Amino acid sequence: MLGLKLLTDPRWANVAETNLEEILTDHAWCEQKAASNAISLITQNSEHQDLVHELTAIAIEEMQHFEMVIDIIKQRGYTLGRERKDDYVNQLMKFTKKDGSRNTAFIDRLLFAAMIEARSCERFRVLSQNIHDEELAKFYHDLMVSEANHYTTFLNFARRYTVDVNIEQRWKEWLEFEGELIKSYGKKEHIHG
Ligand SMILES: [Fe+2]
Ligand SMILES: [Fe+2]
Repeated sequence: MLGLKLLTDPRWANVAETNLEEILTDHAWCEQKAASNAISLITQNSEHQDLVHELTAIAIEEMQHFEMVIDIIKQRGYTLGRERKDDYVNQLMKFTKKDGSRNTAFIDRLLFAAMIEARSCERFRVLSQNIHDEELAKFYHDLMVSEANHYTTFLNFARRYTVDVNIEQRWKEWLEFEGELIKSYGKKEHIHG
């Protein structure tokens, strides 16, 4: 799925389901981080008009996802907890190239975003197929489709704007790195946990 090297063990969904308040809190903050990431990309690469427009739409959509999650939290009488750290995303960030040209760093930031969208999409699929809560199963199915579109958008921008990065080669490196990294996850009630 989406080129991912390792699929999530469906039993992770059962772990997530034991603590819906926690997974929803973590999920809300993932959406906020996705919006913030899109805004940073806009700020740092404002010369690309089509990117500015498409990422504005994505930033808005991610905040709409945030709103949907906090609505569910409220409806169910849960509390939105404080922002959760995302160790998985922090590890991916360390893999981004920061020492090359501006274009290299830009392209890698797009691939970083595509990578997170791909794994989030896969995790939403696992949730939608395995949790017993019908409302949330439907919710995660809908989000899965949306995140798959974001994944495609980021990857296509990387292909469009590369100057000298071999995208297919670098994307392969990303998939391999992530495939190893994700082996240490899948045990916690966090979206990337
Ligand atoms: Fe989202
Ligand atoms: Fe997304």
